[in-house]
Amino acid sequence: MVEETHFGFSRVPLQEKQRRVDEVFYKAAPRYDLMNDLMSGGLHRVWKDIFVSKVKPAKTTRFRHIDVAGGTGDVAFRVAKAGSHLTEVVVADINAAMLAEGRRRAAEKRFEASLNFAEANAEELPFRDNSFDAYTIAFGIRNVPRIGKALSEAYRVLRRGGRFLCLEFSDVNVPILDRLYEAYSFHLIPLLGRFVAGDEKPYRYLVESITRFPDAESFSGKIGAAGFARASFTRLSGGIVAIHSGWKV
Ligand SMILES: C[S@@+](CC[C@H](N)C(=O)[O-])C[C@H]1O[C@@H](n2cnc3c(N)ncnc32)[C@H](O)[C@@H]1O
Repeated sequence: MVEETHFGFSRVPLQEKQRRVDEVFYKAAPRYDLMNDLMSGGLHRVWKDIFVSKVKPAKTTRFRHIDVAGGTGDVAFRVAKAGSHLTEVVVADINAAMLAEGRRRAAEKRFEASLNFAEANAEELPFRDNSFDAYTIAFGIRNVPRIGKALSEAYRVLRRGGRFLCLEFSDVNVPILDRLYEAYSFHLIPLLGRFVAGDEKPYRYLVESITRFPDAESFSGKIGAAGFARASFTRLSGGIVAIHSGWKV
């Protein structure tokens, strides 16, 4: 039997999901950063600042960080800024168009830390076991067809004592805000996609994929099931997003 998963509200064979996700981000790449600002009213910057404040790169010893599904580099740039000349940040993403935007933006910045880009699938990272001090993934995991496999890979590449951090859309649990958020997501975001990015389809997928993603408790359970200790989460902005954490011990 063909294994299936969700692509937004549709059911698709597992193999098909990645192809469709790639198509979404090839189309979205040139306007990705602008659309993020417009759709979140700039809030994604605050969420990413809070998220990266948890990474705390060591300043006096070597610190190797991987940002998976790193796209245009927002999280990686923040980690690089917080680090030192002993910090190495790898941006790994499956999509060459998103990485090209990331490289272009990186060329305009200066960091003491070194920054490297790698075209790689979160489900099969081309890195050695126990080779990173910290792993981040922001707004990426819900796009990956086999989430369990990506979590196992995160566990494999982290060293003992290393931290897994994930920033992802979550379940809004504040009355009234949940209704407003739903109306905004299903009506305004696709319209913004149509008028600003010239295509509403990628933005319909975005909204549907957020709705389909597990609630914070269930996702935290998956992190624990992948082997991480002390799996925990913090909701931000009434649960619009959550930061998940786990440790490899
Ligand atoms: C919504 S963007 C997030 C980009 C960035 N982390 C940010 O927060 O701005 C999702 C990213 O996940 C990437 N992606 C999707 N499937 C992936 C996979 N299997 N492995 C690695 N990256 C993947 C996409 O190419 C895209 O760049």
